[in-house]
Amino acid sequence: ARLVVLVSGSGTNLQALLDACAEPTYGARVVAVGADRDGIEGLARAERAGVPTFVVRLEDYTSREHWDRALADKVGAFEPDLVVSAGFMKLLGEAFLDRFGGRTLNTHPALSPSFPGVRGPADALEYGVKVTGATLFVVDAGVDTGAIVAQTVVPVEDDDTVETLHERIKVAERVMLVDSVGRIARDGMTVDGRRVRLGG
Ligand code: GRF
Repeated sequence: ARLVVLVSGSGTNLQALLDACAEPTYGARVVAVGADRDGIEGLARAERAGVPTFVVRLEDYTSREHWDRALADKVGAFEPDLVVSAGFMKLLGEAFLDRFGGRTLNTHPALSPSFPGVRGPADALEYGVKVTGATLFVVDAGVDTGAIVAQTVVPVEDDDTVETLHERIKVAERVMLVDSVGRIARDGMTVDGRRVRLGG
């Protein structure tokens, strides 16, 4: 299966996928990495792995819709079977989801439906839950609301800070992402009762 991965930051989830894809039996390969900003470690990781990159900056477009369409065009040029938003910090809009809806996955560092949005680890810590985790889901028009593909649980420790908790979540999140994407690449997935099969 052909993967396009979207990143906005450090790209440790991307790195886990790149490492997994180096194994031929994994069944997927990262054909391109896209970002909404320059100079991030995620893009450097792609470059080191010899994977083509592209950047589509919101500030270069007159509207969110134009940006969304441009992003969809860039992604589409690489003919992905699956798009993985891995720490991509922008919501994907209608034009993007018209083309890639049902085969765009995102990871969220909390157990959905609890604590959606960008403060997942902080909100879990503030609430005082004793377990949290990460969720892999099919992106829809909402914020972290799409059909759940996989979840992984991590404990919250008494002395956790947002940073230590998020770091523990990210370790589990990467394992979940690599396992799930490999399984989907090999066997497809069921979304809303519909079987989705990906190309080789
Ligand atoms: C992950 O925890 C992801 O769920 C969240 O931001 C983090 C990205 O980490 N949205 P990285 O860029 O993959 O290291």
